Amino acid sequence: MSALQNDLILRVLRGEATERTPVWMMRQAGRYLPDYIKLREKYSFFERVQTPELATEITLQPVYQIGVDAAILFSDILVIPQAMGLEVQLIEHKGPVLPDPIKSAKDLERLHVADPHTELSYVPAAIKLIKKELNGKVPLIGFAGAPWTLLCYMVQGKGSKTFDEAKAFCYTHPELAHTLLQMITDSTIAYLKAQIEAGADVVQLFDSWGGLLSPDDFEIWSLSYMRQIVAVVKDLAPTILFAKGAWYSLSAMADTGAQGLGIDWCITPQMARKLAGEDVALQGNYDPVHLMAPPAKIAEEVTAMLNAFGPKGHIANLGHGILPGVPVDHAKIFVETVKQHKHHVI
Ligand code: CP3
Repeated sequence: MSALQNDLILRVLRGEATERTPVWMMRQAGRYLPDYIKLREKYSFFERVQTPELATEITLQPVYQIGVDAAILFSDILVIPQAMGLEVQLIEHKGPVLPDPIKSAKDLERLHVADPHTELSYVPAAIKLIKKELNGKVPLIGFAGAPWTLLCYMVQGKGSKTFDEAKAFCYTHPELAHTLLQMITDSTIAYLKAQIEAGADVVQLFDSWGGLLSPDDFEIWSLSYMRQIVAVVKDLAPTILFAKGAWYSLSAMADTGAQGLGIDWCITPQMARKLAGEDVALQGNYDPVHLMAPPAKIAEEVTAMLNAFGPKGHIANLGHGILPGVPVDHAKIFVETVKQHKHHVI
């Protein structure tokens, strides 16, 4: 395995100074890229995810076409519920559907802790192939969904703005909910370990629905499980926690020892830094919908964002995933503006 030619993100996650701010975009491999759309016409979603050659091709597209400083494995957070025994469908223009969601103790009997080397063996296989193809160009980010966000889909059975059924399940069947969260946590620890063993240089936990919880509930239903995962994984590879909307828990998330924290656009860089402290890298936080604005406006806003975060401890990113309708040129302007930016060093 060749050494990395671009290790900016790893250096920021180690707390080191870098010559410029590194940049990648959440959901950077996906539907705004014409070459991705071509593959989508030929292969189903899970064919793309489970075929290492296809996952590799899709993972590399934004590295070569947009110029980001990291690749992120092309996969989905819902491969864990699937490997645990639940049926998962991804229906175009509708999103994920889990036709037999978890509602009772009996439903839990259908699940098992996932084994990354059997049901998920296509993931380490893809990572090995991606690392070979990247040949040290940029680091590879592996990822998993946070246990709370996966419970949301496993109980609600589909996307939702409120995940009210998933929340109600926790408040009415707390023991079952904790049993399920622990099974997801155990699956995720084994899964991320396997990703790192196969060659992932960084891992990120996506808690897309963390912000639906009050600060107290976030600790009980989300952070206590992410803490277990971080405790094992952070010494194997730098770990980024992204809990969308849960800015109120940045201080508690920093205390987990994760090397990076993702933030969305609902908090200023200054406020996030104050809450998170000095010892953790911050990742974010451009509103992905702002990528629809005219290019000159994007460049101006990204420059302001970079100045607000300052030259150290920042990985430029969006505050959530890139949207399908974003013009490729606008994604490029975002990335180029970061790469050209010169911080004023005092
Ligand atoms: O480029 C990357 O970031 C890597 C690939 C990636 C996908 N999903 C591919 C995908 C990653 C990191 C994810 C994570 C994911 N999946 C999250 C957490 C991040 C977030 O956005 O909050 C969540 C909540 C999911 C669940 C999921 N998968 C949804 C809600 C959907 C449908 C709607 C949508 O946003 O696309 C998916 C399908 C999915 N996962 C697609 C892609 C490219 C689109 C399906 C397609 O193109 O056919």
